[in-house]
Formats: sequence, structure tokens, C-alpha cells
Amino acid sequence: MAVVTPPSPMLPASAKAAHPGFPRVMTGYATKQANVPIRGVADLVVRSLLDDQQFGDDGGKAEALGISSASWPLFGLVWPSGLLLADRIAARPVRVGERILEVGCGLALASLVGHRLGADMTACDIHPLAGAFLRENLRLNELSAMSYRHGPWAQVARRVGEPFDLVIGSDLLYEADTRGVLAEFLVRHATPTAEVWIVDPDRGNRSAFHRRMASFGYERTEERVDALADVGRAAYRGRLMVYRRTEAGAAAAALLP
Ligand SMILES: C[S@@+](CC[C@H](N)C(=O)[O-])C[C@H]1O[C@@H](n2cnc3c(N)ncnc32)[C@H](O)[C@@H]1O
Repeated sequence: MAVVTPPSPMLPASAKAAHPGFPRVMTGYATKQANVPIRGVADLVVRSLLDDQQFGDDGGKAEALGISSASWPLFGLVWPSGLLLADRIAARPVRVGERILEVGCGLALASLVGHRLGADMTACDIHPLAGAFLRENLRLNELSAMSYRHGPWAQVARRVGEPFDLVIGSDLLYEADTRGVLAEFLVRHATPTAEVWIVDPDRGNRSAFHRRMASFGYERTEERVDALADVGRAAYRGRLMVYRRTEAGAAAAALLP
């Protein structure tokens, strides 16, 4: 069922200036609710944006964070890489006391699955609506509250909390990260023995990301995933990249300011 949020009665002048197409740009956005299959566990019930044409930057919050109208809907869609990451969290035994951070979570499917299994999950994203969608999806799946932090990777000083035992993310390499803020954010939030898991649908910015992670002393192993279409799933081509810090890397990271 599609739900349309009421359009904002007024869009700030700054937002109009950023979207020359105004008033053709929608100020309300439509959502849908669907059962999303995750391998090996029960489906998630997920409220997402209706499609990638939605936009609703009420109050210009996204614009102020540098989120363009084209990238505005990215947080609110079910991405194939997000599904694969959720599958992998579903298959991973929950370890007592372990803390897991999902970075650039979007709809946070992996966090929802991990939280439902009893893992200590924290999700974070820059999008002003990601936290609200997470709360709604926790409610739809009858789950208790979960830790969520809002903010951009560039604010490395603003740690999400103590370093995590596992740091995960999916489909995050779609923009060139010339300053390497994503890699630095990941490294700063990982304990020395933590793995960093990134699922990527063969995006072009991978090599630069590998080099950044290597500069922080991380080695990578990759698992290629070529999956045929399945019930509720499109065919998928991508990879799970697992980064682990070497001993030399741990010493180098200790010198980070
Ligand atoms: C393509 S979406 C993928 C979402 C989710 N990981 C998935 O696979 O379904 C990219 C996500 O990264 C978030 N993101 C992009 N740049 C970011 C930044 N600088 N800081 C924090 N989150 C960011 C976006 O808001 C969006 O939710």
C-alpha cells in the first residue's frame, strides 16, 4: 500500500534555489510497505520509499547536509547489496558482548536482522529521515528500540561511541571519496581486532577505497557473489569485502591524531 506524506506548505527559498525544476520537484514523498525476504530467517516488514523518484526535503535539512535532490531518495530504497549484507548478518552467530556498527545504513536491513537476533547493533546515516524510517521499521517488526546516530562520515571527531567489534556497510562507494573520509570513519570506529565488512555492487570507486584502507594497515579478502534471481530478489553481481587490520597497521593506527 502506498502512503503519501502531505506536501510541505512552504519550501524554503534556499531549497527552491537548489532545485531549478521547482515547483515540479515533489515536496511530499510516497512510501510503501512490503515483506522483504532475508536468507535463513523470517522476512522483514519494511517501509521504504515508493521509488527512486521521491523527494521531500522539508525545512531544507538534507540540503544543509549537502544531500542533493538526486541523492535524497537513496537512503530509503531496498538495495540488493543491503539485502546481501542482511543475509550475512543473519548467518553470523551472535557473540555475547560484541558491538556492531552499520555505517550509511539507509533502511538498515542488516541492523534490523541483527537486532532481532539479539546482537548489539548501532546504525548511523547522514540522511535526516533515516532514523525515522528505522523507528518505523522497528515498530512494524515488533522490535524494541535500537541505537541510532545521525551524522556525516566527515565528522570523524564525533565518534558514534566506543570502537565496535564489527563495522559493516553496503553500497557506500557510489561517490568518489577524494578525502578518504569513509575509510577514516570506519577505521576510527573499529577496535584493533575488528573486521570491516563492505558489500559493494562492483562500483568504480573500489580501488581508491582499498588504497585508503591499506594506508590504515588493513588487508582485504573478497568473496565474489553472482546470484541468480530468486523469490523476491533480483539477480545480483557484487562482492563482500572483509578488511582486517595487520599488526603493523594497528601500530600505525595508534598514531592517528
Ligand atoms: C546507496 S545507499 C545504501 C543504503 C544501505 N547501506 C543499503 O545498502 O541499503 C547509501 C547510504 O549512505 C548514506 N551516506 C552517504 N553519504 C554519507 C555520509 N557522508 N555520511 C553518512 N552516511 C552517508 C546515504 O544517506 C544512504 O543511506
